[in-house]
Amino acid sequence: MNDALRVGVAGLGTVGASVLRVLSQKSDELTRQCGRPIVVAAVSARDRGRDRGVDLSGIEWFEDSAVLAREAAVDVVVELIGGEEGAALACVKAALQSGRHVVTANKALLSRHGLQLAEIAEKKGVLLNYEAAVAGGIPVIKTMREAMAGNTVSRVFGILNGTCNYILTRMEAEGISFDECLKDAQRLGYAELDPTFDIEGHDTAHKLSILTSLAFGTKIAPDDIYLEGISNITQADIRAAAELGYRIKLLGVAQKTDSGIEQRVHPTMVPTASVIAQVHGVTNAVAVETDILGELLMSGPGAGGSATASAVVGDIADIAKSRPGFQHGPVFGRPVKELQPYKRARMRSHEGGYFIRLTVHDRTGVFAAIAKRMADNDISLESIVQHANRDQSADEKTVILVTHETTEAAVRKAVEGITKDGHATTKPQVIRIERAA
Ligand SMILES: NC(=O)c1ccc[n+]([C@@H]2O[C@H](COP(=O)([O-])OP(=O)(O)OC[C@H]3O[C@@H](n4cnc5c(N)ncnc54)[C@H](OP(=O)(O)O)[C@@H]3O)[C@@H](O)[C@H]2O)c1
Repeated sequence: MNDALRVGVAGLGTVGASVLRVLSQKSDELTRQCGRPIVVAAVSARDRGRDRGVDLSGIEWFEDSAVLAREAAVDVVVELIGGEEGAALACVKAALQSGRHVVTANKALLSRHGLQLAEIAEKKGVLLNYEAAVAGGIPVIKTMREAMAGNTVSRVFGILNGTCNYILTRMEAEGISFDECLKDAQRLGYAELDPTFDIEGHDTAHKLSILTSLAFGTKIAPDDIYLEGISNITQADIRAAAELGYRIKLLGVAQKTDSGIEQRVHPTMVPTASVIAQVHGVTNAVAVETDILGELLMSGPGAGGSATASAVVGDIADIAKSRPGFQHGPVFGRPVKELQPYKRARMRSHEGGYFIRLTVHDRTGVFAAIAKRMADNDISLESIVQHANRDQSADEKTVILVTHETTEAAVRKAVEGITKDGHATTKPQVIRIERAA
């Protein structure tokens, strides 16, 4: 039997404790698969006295995770602290600089510092594995980095945040408001006490920025993402979507266009019959479209200790199986110097169908004025429906427009015009429609 792979785990929370549990419970099987044992030799967390439900006897404890990364007698440092700066960054940097492989589940860190960390990993000839950072247990990084060699990606998109998908699923299934769903999600532990990061799309954006780099061979560009969360989605939108044969999902989408790459996170209408529309609750999904493979969709658990630990342990096992001197694949699919600058496509040039829900004064000529604003901006309509809404006053009505393919700029101009005409009684709701098989 070969020498054991010695592992140091920094962070023993939901994911860290699960990783220790899996490594202990599956020790024999992992040894058979990897040809050598995997041994946890060092750990670090904030509170040494806390019971984590795992046996830490015989494992060296480090008060400071950066010291663990630099000085512990380990081959691999597993960073499960979280956060884009502070202890997590110090720990990963120290580990790579001292020539140790790193496994992390930290999307925030990679989105902000991934390139710099990949450069250090390349220079030191060590691995930086991060399967758990995007869509938890779904093996999307490995698939894109290794299994799709030679493919040219045209679009990658997905449901990358379980909290948002849980809320939208329940809003549709039970007809309850966004606020009620959020409160329930918090009570059940699916949403943080401060849910802003999830529901306003930031978490999805972090994951999307990593997928974009892998998909298009570009430098990570976390600040060049169009961002819209789900907090303004109402029952009226969900009901109208259902009537028109759509379901609303928060998607992260990265797409190559003639003017550059679009990175966008926003509520999206997908056809009810599409595969991605069947992804319910906290489940995640990632779809990749390429020239050789065609369309691939993977779905599965995007979070939770056990599912995330599955991805982390897979990354550790890959390192255990690798041989010294064997040249590993680059962190973001190609060497850092080969990654192209990210060229952002302007959101105004985005092309697609649009759903527009207007609440307007119920008076003569409104319908014609709306249609004229659309025509003036060369927007052709797939459907235009008006009906009285049960939550509205008697002198208001709802008008729902679904456009054929048009541009964001045209839609914004038309909606501005309608607002200027004084017909709308509330802010118009605009939701983009995404093509999905
Ligand atoms: N939870 C999920 O479902 C999930 C899914 C995918 C990815 N991730 C990612 O996995 C990572 C860990 O998430 P988690 O949910 O396990 O977090 P968590 O439960 O909050 O655990 C964080 C751990 O880090 C430790 N820690 C905090 N500051 C530290 C410091 N300065 N030095 C050393 N240890 C420190 C904490 O110590 P104490 O326990 O002593 O307080 C705790 O054990 C994050 O990057 C997260 O984004 C999580």
